[in-house]
Amino acid sequence: MVTPSRVGRTGGTGPCALPEVSVFGPNVRCRKKVHSATFVGGVTGMSGGKGSHVSQQAETYETYVRPWLGGLLRSLRLDVSYTRAEGNWLSCGDGSGPARVLDAVGGYGANFFGHYHPALTDRLVRLVAGRVPVQAQGSIRSVTADLARELSRRVGGGVDEYVVTFASTGAEAVEAAVKHAELAWREGVAEHRQRLVKKSAQLVRQLPELDDAALRVLRQLGYTGDRRTRAALDHLIALNDRAAAGSPQFLALEGAFHGKTMGAVQLTHHDTYRGPFDQGSTRFVSGPAALAEQLRACRRTRYEVTVSGSALVITSRSFSAAAAFFVEPIQGEGGIRVLTPRRLRELAAAARAEGVPLVLDEIQSGMGRTGSFCFSEQSGVRGDYVLLAKSLGGGLVKIGALLVRRERYRHRFGEIHSSTFAEDDLSAGVALEALRVLDSEGLMTRAAATGRWLREQLEQLRRRYPGVLAEIRGAGLMIGVEFAGQSASPSRAIRLLDAQRLLGYALTGYLLHEHGVRVAPTLSNPNTLRLEPAATLSLEEGALLLRALESACEVIHKANAYRLTRFIVGATGGSRVADYRRDLGWDAHDPSLPQVAFVGHFITTSDMALWDPSFELFTSAELVDYLERVGPYLKAELTDRRTVVSGTGAKVQLNFLGVLASSRQMSRSIFGDGTRTRAMISEAVQESAAAGCVALGLGGYNSIVTANAQSLPPDHLALTTGNALTVGMGLRAVERAAAERGIPLESARFAAVGANGNIASIYSELMSDRVPSLLLIGRPGREEAIFKAARRVYARALKRIDAARAADRTAGLRGLAGSIFRHPSFQALADRTWPGTEDDIRRLHDALTAGPGEAPLSIATDLGGLARANLVLAASNSPDPLIFAGMLGPQPVVICDISVPMDTDASVRARRPDVTVIQGGVVRLPANPDFVIGGIPLEPGLSFACMAETVLLGLEGIRTHYSYGQISADQVETISAVAEKHGFVLGRPRLESSY
Ligand SMILES: Cc1ncc(COP(=O)(O)O)c(C=O)c1O
Repeated sequence: MVTPSRVGRTGGTGPCALPEVSVFGPNVRCRKKVHSATFVGGVTGMSGGKGSHVSQQAETYETYVRPWLGGLLRSLRLDVSYTRAEGNWLSCGDGSGPARVLDAVGGYGANFFGHYHPALTDRLVRLVAGRVPVQAQGSIRSVTADLARELSRRVGGGVDEYVVTFASTGAEAVEAAVKHAELAWREGVAEHRQRLVKKSAQLVRQLPELDDAALRVLRQLGYTGDRRTRAALDHLIALNDRAAAGSPQFLALEGAFHGKTMGAVQLTHHDTYRGPFDQGSTRFVSGPAALAEQLRACRRTRYEVTVSGSALVITSRSFSAAAAFFVEPIQGEGGIRVLTPRRLRELAAAARAEGVPLVLDEIQSGMGRTGSFCFSEQSGVRGDYVLLAKSLGGGLVKIGALLVRRERYRHRFGEIHSSTFAEDDLSAGVALEALRVLDSEGLMTRAAATGRWLREQLEQLRRRYPGVLAEIRGAGLMIGVEFAGQSASPSRAIRLLDAQRLLGYALTGYLLHEHGVRVAPTLSNPNTLRLEPAATLSLEEGALLLRALESACEVIHKANAYRLTRFIVGATGGSRVADYRRDLGWDAHDPSLPQVAFVGHFITTSDMALWDPSFELFTSAELVDYLERVGPYLKAELTDRRTVVSGTGAKVQLNFLGVLASSRQMSRSIFGDGTRTRAMISEAVQESAAAGCVALGLGGYNSIVTANAQSLPPDHLALTTGNALTVGMGLRAVERAAAERGIPLESARFAAVGANGNIASIYSELMSDRVPSLLLIGRPGREEAIFKAARRVYARALKRIDAARAADRTAGLRGLAGSIFRHPSFQALADRTWPGTEDDIRRLHDALTAGPGEAPLSIATDLGGLARANLVLAASNSPDPLIFAGMLGPQPVVICDISVPMDTDASVRARRPDVTVIQGGVVRLPANPDFVIGGIPLEPGLSFACMAETVLLGLEGIRTHYSYGQISADQVETISAVAEKHGFVLGRPRLESSY
C-alpha cells in the first residue's frame, strides 16, 4: 500500500488528456496504450474489455439480467455457466468453469431429489406426453386436488385437516399466508362488530334507559352522554372500532427469511432486503420471552354487552392486534439456525396463548430434508398455517403451497386470492410423484443418516481447525458450516475479505475452482456456508465434499491468501499449501492515545507481496488482474495499526486504511470522473471520524482525486494531503545531495517536472531562494497552470528584489532574485515597482525570455530542457516513469524524486551511476526503528512525509485541516519546524529497496 503525497492536481478530463509519447520524447512509454490494453473496470467504475475467460453468456447475463450480480460473480470468478445437470453433478460444457461440479447447494434447498431424478423426470415426460392440461384455470383441477389432500394428510398427521392454496414460488406462498392472516383478522374484527351492532338493536328495545351501575361503568369508559342506551352502546362500538383501527401487526423471528416480494420481505429480518421497503408491519423478536412481551404489547380491549335481569352488563375482552407469527423451524438464509424442540414449543405456546396463528415456514426445511416431512414434526408442533415450496416441485417444476387449518380457513379467501399459474396439474403431478419417491426410496431416512454422518465429520474437522471453523449446525441435509471471523488472521487479504463480509464468497469460489464443489454462503450470514445436497448424495460424494472443506480450512489456517483466492485470476498448480503465518505486528488499539488515520493505496502491484506475503506467488500480470477484479468491490479497510512515538516521548496511533488499487488504477480514476473513488474515500473519512480519529491523511492519488482533500464532505477531523512536509523534506534532500555531489546551489540549474502541480509549484518557489536558474516543466494543455506556478516564483523573487532595494543591498541578492535583478532585460524595466499585476509579470517573463542572455526562469511542456539541468525535482502524477537516462546531460546531476511511483526510470540508475537519485519525501521516525506499514516499500523506521505529517497533526493536537488545497511556503516552514521538534528527520532510503 502506498501513501506518499502525489504531486500536482490534475485537471485532465479523460484518458486523452494524459501527457503522451509525442510530448515527452521517444523514450517515454506509451501510457495510453498501457491504460487501454491492461486496465479495465477498476476503482473508476469505468467499464472496459473483459478477461478472455468470461463467456459471451456471462456478459449478456450481466448486461440484460442482473448487472449487479453479474459484476460480482465476474469479479469473484463465479461467473460460470452450467450447461448440464444430472444427479448430484453439474457441468460447464462451455469451459466457463470446471467440467464437473459436485452440487452441494441443492438449489438452495429446492433440489432434494437431485437433478433430473429418473422417476420424476419420467413422470414429467409422461404427463406431457399424456397432454395433461396446464392451462385450465377455473375448472376442477383433479391432480391438484389429490395433491392437496395428500399434503393435508402428511402435514396434519391424520389429526388435523388443512385447506391448501397453491402458488408458484415460496414467496408467493408467503404472500398468500400474509393475506389470509390479515383477512382472517379483519373478518374477525368485523364479525365481532356486527354481533355487537345486532345485539345493540335488541337491547335498545329491551332496555331503553341505562341503570345506574351500567352508567357508572360507561362513565369510566369516557362516556359523557345521557341515560339513553342507544347513545351508550354507540360509544362502546366507537371504542371497539378505535381499538381495531389500522392494519394488524405481524411477528417474526430475528434472522428470519421469508422471501423478497413486497409482502414477504416485510417478514424478512435482514435490513439489506427489508430496509428500503419496510412498512413497519412486522415486529421481530429474539425468542419466546420477547415474543410473549410483544404479544402482550399487541393486546387490545374490546367490549361486549349482555343483559342480566333489567341491568346492562358490560364486559371487556382482550384480543390481539397481531395477525400471525411466522417462524422457520430452521432458519435457512439466516445462517442455518435450528430451533430446538423446546424453543419451538415455547414459541408456539406463546402465540397460541394469545390466539395468534402460528405460521410454520417449511419452504426450505420441509419435504423430508431433515428426516421428517416437516422439521417441526420433530418438536411435536403443528402449525395453524404451514408453507411448502422448493423441493415440493421435485426440482423440476415451480410449485408452492399454503396450508391453513380447516377451522381457521376463510372461505372468502378462495374468491379474493388466485394466481394464473397456481394449481396446474402438470406441477401437481410431479409434486405427487415427489411425495411417492420420498417414501419409496426412503429418502427421509437417508437424509437423516447422511446428514448425521456429514455433521459428525465436520465437527471433527472443527476440532482440528478451531480457529477456522466456528460452528457446525443443522439437521438432516440442511447444514451450516460457520467459518470463524478472521479479524486476527496473519493474512491481511483474509482479514480484509472477512471485514468486508466476502470471506464466504471467496470460499465458495475456492471450493468451486480448486475442488469442483459447489456451495453457497447464506444471504444474511455470509461467513456460513450452507450444504443442502440432495438426499441421493453418495458416501463418496460426501467424502469429496469433506476433503474440499478440509483443504479450505488448511488454506485459511496457514494464512495462504494466494491459495484461497488465486482462482480469481485463474492461477493454478502446486499441491502443497505453503504456510504464511507471520506476525503482522499490529499494535492493539489504545483509546487513551490520539488516533489518526491514513488512506493509502499500492504504489505498484508488486507491493502487494509486502502487504500479504503469500501474494509473492502471483505473477505481476496476475496481480494486475486481481486488483482489477476485486478492487471495485472493496472499500478502504484498516490493514495496519502502529503506535508512533515522538522524540518528545508523546505518542499517536496511526490507523492505516488500505485501498485495494494500484497507482495506475488510481491515476485512471482521476481521468475518469473519479466519483466512485471519492465516495470510497468519503466513507473512510466518515468512519474514521466516527471511530474517534482526530486527523486523516490522504496518500498518493487519494489526494489528487479529492482535489487535495477539498472535495471531501466536511467532517469532524483534520484533513491533510501531507504535501507541506513532503516539500519541506524534499528541499532538505536536494540541499544535502547537492552538497555531497559538489554542486554549488548558487550556480545550479534547477528543473521541476510536474510543475503544474501543487507540490512542484511550491517547491520551485522555495528553491528559487537558493538557485539562479529554474525550468518549470508540466504536462501539455496545462500551460496556464504552469504559468501560475511561474507567477508565484516570480512574485517571491520580485519581493526579495524590492526588499533588497529598500535596504540598498541588491549586490547580495542570491538565487533567482539575483539572476533576474542582474538580467539586462530586467535592468531595462527596472524603474517599475514590483510585484506588479499578472500582466506585468507576463511582460517581465516575455522580456526575460526574449533575451539578450539566458532567461532565469523558463517554462516547457517537454523534457528536452532536462539535458542542461543539474538539480531535478521529479514530482509529476504520472503512474509511469518519465525521466530516462538518455534525457540527462553529461554534468553531475542530482534528481530528487518525490513522485510515487517514481518518475525516474530504472535506466537512469543502470546507465548513469554517476547521477544521484534520491527519494525526497521520506522521513525517519525518531523512536520507531521497526516501523513498517504492510504494502509500503520502505525500510523499517521510515515513513513517507505525507503520512508523517498526519502523525504530526495528531502529536501537535492540530485539529484544523492542514495541507488542504493549495499549500503555502509558510505551511512548509511551519510543519518542517514541527517535524524537527518531534525529531522527524529526512530519511535516506536505499534505492534498491524502493519502488
Ligand atoms: C424459509 C423460506 N421462505 C421463503 C422463501 C422464499 O422462496 P422463493 O425464493 O421461492 O420465493 C425462502 C427462499 O429461500 C425460504 O428459505
